[in-house]
Amino acid sequence: MSDNQFNEIIQNGYNSKGITSPIGVAVFDNVPVEGLVVSMPLKMLNRHGLIAGATGTGKTKTLQVIAEQLSRNGIPSILMDLKGDLGGLAVAGQKNDTVENRRKLFNGSYDYAYQGFPVNILSIGEDEGVSIKASIQEFGPVLLSKILGLNNVQSGIISIAFKYCEDKQLSLNTIADLKYFLTKICDDNKDIKDNYGNVSGASITTILRNIAELEQQGGNFLIGSPGLDVNDLIMNDDNNNGVLSIIRLTQLQDKPALFSTFIIYLLSKLYSTLPEVGDLAKPKLVLFIDEAHLLFNDTNKIIQDKIESVIKLIRSKGVGIIFCTQTPADISVNVLGQLGLKIQHALRAFTAKDRKSVKMMAQNFPETSFYNVEEDLTSLGIGEAFITLLREDGTPSPLVKTLLAPPVSRMGILEDKELTKTINSSPLKSKYGTKNTVVTKPSKELEDFYKKLNQIKEKEKIAELQEKERQKQKIKQATAPTRVTMPRRQSYNNMMFGAMMPMTNMFSNMMGGGNTGMNNAPQNIQYYYSKDGQQYGPVSEFQISNSILSGEINSFTYLWKTGMAEWMLSTNFQEFQNLLK
Ligand SMILES: Nc1ncnc2c1ncn2[C@@H]1O[C@H](COP(=O)(O)OP(=O)(O)OP(=O)(O)O)[C@@H](O)[C@H]1O
Ligand SMILES: [Mg+2]
Repeated sequence: MSDNQFNEIIQNGYNSKGITSPIGVAVFDNVPVEGLVVSMPLKMLNRHGLIAGATGTGKTKTLQVIAEQLSRNGIPSILMDLKGDLGGLAVAGQKNDTVENRRKLFNGSYDYAYQGFPVNILSIGEDEGVSIKASIQEFGPVLLSKILGLNNVQSGIISIAFKYCEDKQLSLNTIADLKYFLTKICDDNKDIKDNYGNVSGASITTILRNIAELEQQGGNFLIGSPGLDVNDLIMNDDNNNGVLSIIRLTQLQDKPALFSTFIIYLLSKLYSTLPEVGDLAKPKLVLFIDEAHLLFNDTNKIIQDKIESVIKLIRSKGVGIIFCTQTPADISVNVLGQLGLKIQHALRAFTAKDRKSVKMMAQNFPETSFYNVEEDLTSLGIGEAFITLLREDGTPSPLVKTLLAPPVSRMGILEDKELTKTINSSPLKSKYGTKNTVVTKPSKELEDFYKKLNQIKEKEKIAELQEKERQKQKIKQATAPTRVTMPRRQSYNNMMFGAMMPMTNMFSNMMGGGNTGMNNAPQNIQYYYSKDGQQYGPVSEFQISNSILSGEINSFTYLWKTGMAEWMLSTNFQEFQNLLK
């Protein structure tokens, strides 16, 4: 094939009617062709992409270049930073010969100034950054059970907890809330048993133990309040540049389960928050997942299925996802088949197994008569890659070896001072804070709910006792026919009556009844109460309880009982305090 044919095919293949962004220069016969620019149609970014390659071949810098282009085009992105080397996006890069020579090859179409981009540095761990969390509620029962490593029965209890809280309009935000709630279920919660299902104490104990383990591992930094509002990650600055939300996750490198949980949480949250938009001229948001092999390391089938389905569905919300990992074999086959953009940096083939997988990978690219892909895959230079992408008409572009553009922001980390400055100037700092303090107390809402529930239970217990007593009296009446008179109204003229009452009482007892409530009942402590200038009695403790429940007696009612020197407000009587609350 001639140079001209190559130029024509690449030019046609990477020309697009919609908005495009230059990302590199085509290479023919191992030489970059000046001015033959490889551009990405932004419309197709919601078909997701993959940047793959051996270590040190330029994946992260390619990711950086794409994120810069998106920001310029007003598209915000979220970047998972597991190595801490994406912070450089916040400050201008340094001019040097290597970089300048690459830029010149674009013949004027990549003359962007060296600059920093609007960046929010966020963190879900102890890394420095605006601290973002997810509330327990937002995780949902499936993910939460997964983080806690629960079996089916135990997950069922978590589902009950979620359903119960939803029905009672209670929110579970922190681990402290969840622990409190679970210990309360243990306290013989009849409502839960009757309406939601049996909850065994042994299972609760296991769940609580697993929570303690999670807390020990530091996993609870993921969980708390305020939960993240994903709209805070979809912002543009005053110049309409897309804001780059860099989420520092350096501590999650050795915790793949937490990493995948966080990503699924974020994807699900984006999916449920964003409206359906179909295919836009450019995506609303792009999510970069560096070290994506961690996401697919997880052998849990539910998690894998969830990742695959959310990735498929989120496209119509205008969200694109770009994975970055060492080999395409790191990504699940179902996800791989959905990807529109493929950028393959150099692969290493040290072993027979490596060579076999390089061969297979070469066969998965569109056919080309310009390159020996299998051979070239192992000899690509740093910052060089094979590219193929979906064109706007849905057809794949011709495979092209590309020398990638250099970033115009810094290719490296931020110094401590720069990092602190970037974090301090984040508009999200005041909302989420920068310290990952773990809440140890349950919410007041939850505590109040249980206080009320306890009062209701107390009342129910008393009503039960009353019923028992009523039954007892009925039996007595049936077996021993006696005169039973209900407490009769007596007037009293002054408060001296209280002092006189014991005598009246004594007299009436001696006379074998009189105005006594139930003269055959054992002579327990008797009560009198005053209402509307009248006094009533003597009555039993049970009758007072009854009158409190019916509203006849309240906390402003004066009472007197056997042995007291004077009348007192009902609230001073220990035995009725619970009923009066
Ligand atoms: N497009 C580029 N322009 C200029 N230099 C580049 C480019 N890409 C890569 N480099 C050089 O290669 C180095 C390594 O690149 P990078 O950090 O992107 O590799 P990586 O594939 O992400 O490595 P790892 O697997 O270790 O994360 C960079 O520090 C930079 O010096
Ligand atoms: Mg990297």
